Amino acid sequence: MSKTANPTIEQIREEALAAAKSVSTTADIETLSIRYLGRKGAITQFLRNIASLPPEARPAAGKKANEVKAILEAAFAEAADLLNRSETAFEASIDVSLPGRPVARGALHPVTLIMRRICDIFARLGFSVAEGPEIETDYYNFEALNFPREHPARDMQDTFFVSDDIVLRTHTSPLQVRVMEKQAPPVRIVAPGKVFRCDSDLTHTPMFHQVEGLMVDKGISFGDLKGILTAFVHQMFDEQTSLRFRPSFFPFTEPSAEVDIRCVMCRGDGCRVCSHTGWLEVLGSGMVHPAVLENVGYDTQQYTGFAFGMGVDRIAMLKYGIDDIRKFFENDLRFLTQFE
Ligand code: PHE
Repeated sequence: MSKTANPTIEQIREEALAAAKSVSTTADIETLSIRYLGRKGAITQFLRNIASLPPEARPAAGKKANEVKAILEAAFAEAADLLNRSETAFEASIDVSLPGRPVARGALHPVTLIMRRICDIFARLGFSVAEGPEIETDYYNFEALNFPREHPARDMQDTFFVSDDIVLRTHTSPLQVRVMEKQAPPVRIVAPGKVFRCDSDLTHTPMFHQVEGLMVDKGISFGDLKGILTAFVHQMFDEQTSLRFRPSFFPFTEPSAEVDIRCVMCRGDGCRVCSHTGWLEVLGSGMVHPAVLENVGYDTQQYTGFAFGMGVDRIAMLKYGIDDIRKFFENDLRFLTQFE
């Protein structure tokens, strides 16, 4: 309403008509009627003020006020009618018999599915899950794992350095040290997670996934390592999948072995996937090096253990028959939603 103490009848009319144009609910119209036409409204106020006008001006002012009152009543009624009609039109436009719009369902990433499957299998074998940082110190990634200072794996070619002393972890093996530092033996853990190496082609991406495993107790032998990993491979692939243990080297295990499985594509006849060898390398393993146990303060006279690390993306490629690892990380939903 106008701020001046006594608005003219024209001011009242203009203001009320403008307000009637911008209503959006019937409640708004109700408010306007009260404000302009109600017992304490602007028009009633105006009519009351007529008494203070000179006598000859009173009839014209009264007439004018009644005209405006009629105009406003009509305008408010019209606005109300317009609102009602658009509401009914909206309701009529809803066809309740139409099928609903489908909500797109999400799917877990194939690498996540395989990672969970691996952890589930080891959970049933008594292993619990441990996690640790992806940005790691030189100590946990290398030093505590018995990497000599000048070991080639520290070379700029493989490792992403954050600073002289901080790296993106190149494997999940730092978890061996982190877990053993925190708890006394026996230890039985798997550690899934992302790892990083400066490498990129058909079978390598700069970020990929590993699951680390560690079992330390009194009297753990290479036989336990073979037994657990054989049980794992048989559950992950099938009972017919045979394994072979090949001598290998890792600074943090001694002896070390790489584990191959019979090619799941050609069953050993030789094909492109296994480079015509009939075998596929799926993990690295070995007996935990005494130097690593000593670094965490374990008594090497009493305790021995084994560790292993596997590439999750590679296992996912084998399980789902995918020939290019980069497909996992291009985020094409047509590809990603196929796996359940
Ligand atoms: N960390 C090794 C790698 O990244 C794998 C490994 C884990 C080997 C544990 C032996 C024991 O290749």
